[in-house]
Amino acid sequence: MQDKLNEIRESVRSTLNKAKESSHIEDLRVHVLGRKGELTALLKGMGKLSPEERPVVGQKVNALRQEIEGWLDEKSRELAAKERQARLNAETLDISIPGDEVKVGNPHPLSTTLEKIIDIFVGMGFSVAEGPEVELDRYNFELLNLPKDHPARDAQDTFYFNENILLRTHTSPVQARTMLAQKPPIRVICPGRVYRADEVDATHSPVFSQCEGLVVDEGVTMGDLKGTLDTFARELYGEGIRTRFRPSFFPFTEPSAEVDVTCAACKGEGCRICKGTGWIEILGAGMVNPHVLEMCGIDPKRYTGFAFGIGIERVTNLKYNVPDMRLLFENDLRFLSQFGKGRV
Ligand code: DAH
Repeated sequence: MQDKLNEIRESVRSTLNKAKESSHIEDLRVHVLGRKGELTALLKGMGKLSPEERPVVGQKVNALRQEIEGWLDEKSRELAAKERQARLNAETLDISIPGDEVKVGNPHPLSTTLEKIIDIFVGMGFSVAEGPEVELDRYNFELLNLPKDHPARDAQDTFYFNENILLRTHTSPVQARTMLAQKPPIRVICPGRVYRADEVDATHSPVFSQCEGLVVDEGVTMGDLKGTLDTFARELYGEGIRTRFRPSFFPFTEPSAEVDVTCAACKGEGCRICKGTGWIEILGAGMVNPHVLEMCGIDPKRYTGFAFGIGIERVTNLKYNVPDMRLLFENDLRFLSQFGKGRV
């Protein structure tokens, strides 16, 4: 019996000396002290001993058990401390290394302009309405006084899904939708993307953006239209900017006008950008045609209204002195990043 105990003692000591990981200690604990361990087996075998031998052997086995437990705990603490130190060494952070730069983008100049436009009109009491880009012929043309085969449709060719469904050519259909859905007083702007069968060049793109405006109430006059657009131009481009109304034609307004603002590049002196005139056209406008009011369910004897449609790309390029509309769509970061923080 004593031999067996010595054997276990020696084998535990030599295994412990070789142990390099705390998991080895746990294996050893199970192997010797566990339910099926060597020492436990000895205790279980005590039944075969004589009653005199039993307490003596029991004491020895227990003494060895305590001794081994002590060694195991000590070794396990020692290894755990070593492992912890090794982990800490491996995880060291070098806080002197410069961090990775986080690249922050900036809004697209078209978005910045549109937000500014919305701010200006909301400040004047307008709300924002939106409509679908895939539109019905009825809203895009017919309710705006452009019946089928009207010659003014030629200037607004677009993609047709079928005879009645098309990509909208302007934001004006949202006027018709708003009038059909709301009673006067109406004061809305309708920003959005529009489509035309145009070739790409410095001033044309088959996809571009507009912001429509519509006011309908009793007693609305052309004076209100001029005052509203003057305020808009000054808020957008600064004091000293003037507007000019030129007679024009749109089937949905009567009278109609094209509106120019002072060329921001030369302050009205005349330069290459304004082709020497000192003025740049930014929008179409007019008094809502009574026939349009009527078709949209509003009594033209009681109500009058004005409307306008702003070309967002044009207004943006004028504000930031961008010479070519294509720059707005090519997504070249060298161009777009110029509109980052502090630049606009
Ligand atoms: N829809 C016109 C266009 O795209 C712009 C326009 C002109 C809108 C006059 C209007 C308006 O609301 O009154 O060319």
